[in-house]
Amino acid sequence: MPDVRFVTEQGEIVLAHAASGDRLLKVAQIAGMPLEGTCEGQMACSTCHVIVAPDWFPRLPDPSDEEEDLLDLAAHVTRTSRLACQISVTEDLDGIEVRIPRNAHNLQIG
Ligand code: FES
Repeated sequence: MPDVRFVTEQGEIVLAHAASGDRLLKVAQIAGMPLEGTCEGQMACSTCHVIVAPDWFPRLPDPSDEEEDLLDLAAHVTRTSRLACQISVTEDLDGIEVRIPRNAHNLQIG
């Protein structure tokens, strides 16, 4: 069971267990992170934006063009931003650290 380490807006660390293959968005929501995931993974919102720790970012599969386009619209985007609904937490991501962006709960579509 891969573990995910979330860093909240306040800098708190929250550890969560995922089942291999779970979407990161689901793992985050179960762990109580304030990611709305409004479109439920249809890549139509960007309310599932997370910031992946720089060490982990290169280990993720590349984002699709659609994901990159949506990330352009998200607030507080960084070079290691991803959409949590597009990341599947596999065993090789055990221990991955992701940060919840500021104002995650206030993101607006577009
Ligand atoms: Fe809407 Fe990820 S949940 S883009």
